[in-house]
Amino acid sequence: MNESILITGANAGLGKETARQLAMKRETKRVILFCRNQARAEAAKKDLEVKTGKKIFEIVMGDVTDANSVRKAVEKIKEPIDAIVLNAGGVVGKTAAKSTPSGMNQLAATNILGHVILVEELIKRDNLRKTVLSVSAEAVPGVKMLGVKPVSMKTSSVDEFVAVLDGSYFGNKFNALQAYAYVKYAETMWTLSMARKYPKLKFVVVSPGNTKGTQAPDSLPPAMRFMLKFVMMPIVFPLMGEMVHTLDVGAKRFVDAISDEQYKSGVFYASKQGKLSGEMVDQSTFFTDLKNTSFQDNANEAIHHFIN
Ligand SMILES: NC(=O)c1ccc[n+]([C@@H]2O[C@H](COP(=O)([O-])OP(=O)(O)OC[C@H]3O[C@@H](n4cnc5c(N)ncnc54)[C@H](OP(=O)(O)O)[C@@H]3O)[C@@H](O)[C@H]2O)c1
Repeated sequence: MNESILITGANAGLGKETARQLAMKRETKRVILFCRNQARAEAAKKDLEVKTGKKIFEIVMGDVTDANSVRKAVEKIKEPIDAIVLNAGGVVGKTAAKSTPSGMNQLAATNILGHVILVEELIKRDNLRKTVLSVSAEAVPGVKMLGVKPVSMKTSSVDEFVAVLDGSYFGNKFNALQAYAYVKYAETMWTLSMARKYPKLKFVVVSPGNTKGTQAPDSLPPAMRFMLKFVMMPIVFPLMGEMVHTLDVGAKRFVDAISDEQYKSGVFYASKQGKLSGEMVDQSTFFTDLKNTSFQDNANEAIHHFIN
């Protein structure tokens, strides 16, 4: 049973809906909304209190691209947390080069940097009791319909992961959606590495699937945003079967994965191959790099090149 849960990026989209669904569970006593913007966090808290009729939400401020702000946030978390949902992220950053003070580019820092610090600092303080859920995406094994090729690194070495994280891997040919797949792969592999390092905790990776009703399309390049919002989401995907779903369905994947024993530590769950909705399956059955423990540990080591 998860009595206290922390969710990053909890003021909007999947994070906020996950907070709502978890709050509706009888056992939930505390939901921490980890957000970077005070006004947006307060508005989400108020709305969640109205929607659930419960006053169990707390706000912890932090920006996942800023290591110091995450460390300060951890200082404020005095009581142990049962489960943490590493949800903040998306296809952010218009160039590979835009760097954060850590040296990771914007895309990698938003999806990885603060999450790794948050989890490792909580473990150090013995303040994490059960489950870590990393949010990944079907982009890792590839989404043909959107032109996203499966991640294919030459060796998945530490150096190659470092290049993905600082953006140099992509050179001048930065395609935000394709780069996002590589960054989510690095985050996924770190999580699988942690599952082996901490066998008493559950480290699970989940993609919400192609979910309507979030802010995500707003950060895409304009042409892709237009295609997605006005062509793919409303017309093409619904015709194809198991390609899109609503916000409650996407968030339920996270809720199920942290609450249900059938979802195991060290596994990346997402849609069946070629699908973006429907049943969740173990991605390593067809994307076999996920099983390679050296690749997993290389991702972990590479991430720590950016953390002092
Ligand atoms: N939607 C989909 O179809 C889909 C599919 C696969 C995977 N995912 C993944 O699911 C997760 C949630 O996506 P979503 O669609 O719900 O996106 P969203 O609606 O854009 O929400 C993203 C959340 O992350 C927060 N955030 C962004 N940068 C942050 C930072 N630097 N520090 C702290 N919080 C930050 C945002 O806060 P602000 O409001 O302050 O910006 C917002 O609360 C992401 O990891 C995304 O990659 C989504």
